[in-house]
Amino acid sequence: MRRRSHGDAVDGRSGGHDRFAGAPVSLRNVSRLHRQGAAKVPALVDVTLDIEAGESVAVIGPSGSGKSTLLHVIGAMDRPDTGSVVVGGTRVEQLSRRAAAVFRRGVGFVFQHYHLLPQLSALDNVVVPLMPVQVDFDRVRRARETLDAVGLGARHEARVADLSGGEQQRVAIARALVVRPRLLLADEPTGALDSRTGDEVLDLLAEVQADQGMTMILATHEAAVAAQCSRVVSLRDGGVVGDHPLWDPRPDETLRRATGLG
Ligand SMILES: Nc1ncnc2c1ncn2[C@@H]1O[C@H](COP(=O)(O)OP(=O)(O)OP(=O)(O)O)[C@@H](O)[C@H]1O
Ligand SMILES: [Mg+2]
Repeated sequence: MRRRSHGDAVDGRSGGHDRFAGAPVSLRNVSRLHRQGAAKVPALVDVTLDIEAGESVAVIGPSGSGKSTLLHVIGAMDRPDTGSVVVGGTRVEQLSRRAAAVFRRGVGFVFQHYHLLPQLSALDNVVVPLMPVQVDFDRVRRARETLDAVGLGARHEARVADLSGGEQQRVAIARALVVRPRLLLADEPTGALDSRTGDEVLDLLAEVQADQGMTMILATHEAAVAAQCSRVVSLRDGGVVGDHPLWDPRPDETLRRATGLG
């Protein structure tokens, strides 16, 4: 994502880990029909799409155009009827239920409505994704570091229900990041926020994505939100109707194009 401001709130390397690679994403002829009573609604129609490791891609389109279905299919939360989905070398649509659950643990999801556990503390919410995973580090310490990294260092113990919308979305982002995902899927992550808070959350996503190098796919209605990504894929009636780079995420490539050198 484009880095619009450089606050000191985010240190994706907190805990001393190295920058890790993003997962490339490749869809071939992916279709998904949803059943609505007797009717069948085509949510995705023959979608073919390649996303490079570390790219930040906005998926934009009107309500019902298939944005969420696309993210769900990529993240193994939904299964296509036809076509293939490959994420970081894994054939996602062929995974068993159990293998899909394991795959999902390595993907970061951020939703419009946070999907947090409101009665639990911010810290407990961020620890949750680490509970089923075998780890060789202290889970609570990792969760605290991740909350620090999203600027919520002072609010570890606060109940999520007592936090503002922007703070709740930061907790949701920390929860997505705590597993150090190679892929971050964000479905209308600013949809429930006022524009200033939404901008702060976008800045935060931009910072962590640029810092950690994960691939990010962000669904949004809003062109201004999409403009924060390096590429915009437009959907209509479940099909891709536009695919445009906005800028090159690799600075040397941007320089090469601008100067004709290299
Ligand atoms: N679980 C479901 N059961 C039945 N139909 C569904 C389901 N999920 C989505 N659909 C339908 O599939 C189509 C695509 O929906 P999807 O939620 O992917 O669109 P969207 O672009 O995310 O929309 P929005 O901007 O409103 O979030 C719509 O016609 C929707 O009604
Ligand atoms: Mg949606």
